[in-house]
Amino acid sequence: MNVLFCVAEAAPFAKTGGLADVAGALPAALRRNGVDVRVMMPHYRGISRQGLQPVMRARSEIGGTDIEGAVWLGAFPNGTPVYLLDAAPLYDRAGLYGEGGRDYDDNLVRFVFFCQAAVVLMRDGWAPDLAHCHDWHSALLPAYLRMHRSRVPTLFTVHNLAHQGTFPAEQFPITGLPHEAFTPDGVEFYGKLNVMKAGLISSHALSTVSETYAKEIQTEEYGMGLDGLLRARSADLFGVLNGVDYSLWDPSVDPSIPARYSTDDLAGKSVCKASLQHDLGLPVDARVPLIGTVARLVSQKGFDLVASGLDAIVSMGAQVVILGTGDPAYEAAFRAAQSRIPHQVRALIGFDERLAHRIEAGADIFLMPSRFEPSGLNQLYSLRYGTVPVVRRTGGLADSIVDVTPENLHLGRANGFVFDHYSTEALVATVGRAIAAYRDQGLWRWLQQVGMRADFSWDRAAERYLALYAVTADRAAKWR
Ligand code: ADP
Ligand code: GLC
Repeated sequence: MNVLFCVAEAAPFAKTGGLADVAGALPAALRRNGVDVRVMMPHYRGISRQGLQPVMRARSEIGGTDIEGAVWLGAFPNGTPVYLLDAAPLYDRAGLYGEGGRDYDDNLVRFVFFCQAAVVLMRDGWAPDLAHCHDWHSALLPAYLRMHRSRVPTLFTVHNLAHQGTFPAEQFPITGLPHEAFTPDGVEFYGKLNVMKAGLISSHALSTVSETYAKEIQTEEYGMGLDGLLRARSADLFGVLNGVDYSLWDPSVDPSIPARYSTDDLAGKSVCKASLQHDLGLPVDARVPLIGTVARLVSQKGFDLVASGLDAIVSMGAQVVILGTGDPAYEAAFRAAQSRIPHQVRALIGFDERLAHRIEAGADIFLMPSRFEPSGLNQLYSLRYGTVPVVRRTGGLADSIVDVTPENLHLGRANGFVFDHYSTEALVATVGRAIAAYRDQGLWRWLQQVGMRADFSWDRAAERYLALYAVTADRAAKWR
C-alpha cells in the first residue's frame, strides 16, 4: 500500500509543535509495517538541498497570479521519503506560518498551492492508494480530489480544532473551488471561508489524536463551532492517541542531557536536575521539587492558571521552570514572575529543543493544565523521563495519565496527578498533592517507575492507523 502523508511541518526539518513530531515519526512506524508512506511538505528556509532529486515542476494560477514551483524527493534521517515543494516566494521565509506573532497575509495562497501541487504529484509523480491529510493546511486536498473525480481514499486527521484556517469571504476564489461550495453546507462558516471544513466534508474518514478528543469535539464546549458537522460525521470519526519516538525521547539514549538513566538506575536523573538548576542559576538542591513545563505559550495550554497560581505554587517550596514562546502577554507575565521571584522561577522565552529535553530530564514534576489537549506529547515524554505529570483531565491527557488515588495505586496504574475543574484552585491543590507525594520517596520512585515502564510507542498507534486506512478505503468504495 502507498500512502501520501500531506502535512505542513515535520521534524527534524521544520517544527513549531507536536504535529511535526507526529509527521516525523508516524510514517516511519507505518513503513516498518510494510506501508510505503511518503511525506509531502513545503521546502522551508533552512532545509538542506543536499541529495535532493528533482521530481516534477508544479504550476498553478491562483487568484489570477501564476505560481511556479518544483517538487524534490529527499529523505528523513530515519529513511522515510519526503517530497518537498519548493517555491521560494511562498516558503523561503523566516517562519513557517508567520513572524512576530502575526500570520503571513498570504497563507491561503501558500497552502492552496501546496494542495494543488499534491494533486499533480499524485497524478504525474507518484500514485498513492490513499492520501492522509493533517490539519487545515492540507484540508483542501480531499476537496480537490473530489473535484477531479479521483478514486483515491482520503483520511483527514484533526490535530487541533483551534486552527481552522479561516479567511475573509473575499478570498474564497483563491481556493479555485466552485462557487456552490461557499454555503453553510460547504466551506462557508459564519460568512467566512473555513478551509478545515473542506477536509471535514470531503474526506472519506476523519480522525483525531485521542479517543477522548474525538468525543469532546462533538460537543458545543470543545467543538469550536464545528461540533454539528462533526456529530453529523460521527460514524466516520475515530480517535488514535499519538505515540512517542523513543529513539529521540528516552533518557537512556538521549544525547541532549548531561547524564543517561533508566528505570533501574535513576542516578543520572539527579545529575540532570542539579545541572539544570545550576545552569539556570537556581539554588542547586536535590530536596526542592523542580516543576517544569515546555509548551507554546497559548491559552490552550492553561497558562492563565499557571500565571494566577504561580505564587501559591512557589510558596509550597517548589522551583518552576517555563520554556515557551507565544502570546506576548504570557511571555511578559512569566518574565515579570522571574524578576519578582528570582530564586524560584525561570521564564525561558524561546524555542530550544535541547533545553526541552533537559527540562524533561531535570524536572521532578511536569505541568500540563491544558484547557483542551487533542493528544499532547510532552506528558508522554515526561512519563518516560520519570518526570511525574500534573495534568487536567481532557483529550489525550485524560487518555494517558492516571490519577494517584488509593485504588489506582493499588492497581499499579497511577502515573500522575489529574484534576477536572479548570480553575486556579484545582491546579494549585493538585500541584500540592504532587509535592506532598514527592516528599514520600518510596511512593515517588514507584510513580516514576510506573511511568517509565509504560509503552506509548508509535508501533501501537501505527497498528491503529493501518486499521483506519482499511476503514477509509472501505468508506471510499461505498461513496462511489
Ligand atoms: P502542541 O502540538 O499543541 O504544541 P504537543 O505536546 O503535542 O503540543 O507537542 C509540543 C512539541 O513541541 C513537543 O515536542 C515540545 O517539546 C515542543 N515544544 C513546544 N514548545 C517548545 C519550545 N519553546 N522549545 C522547544 N520545544 C518546544
Ligand atoms: C496539536 C495538539 C496536540 C497534539 C499535536 C500533534 O497541536 O495541540 O495535543 O499532540 O497536535 O497531534
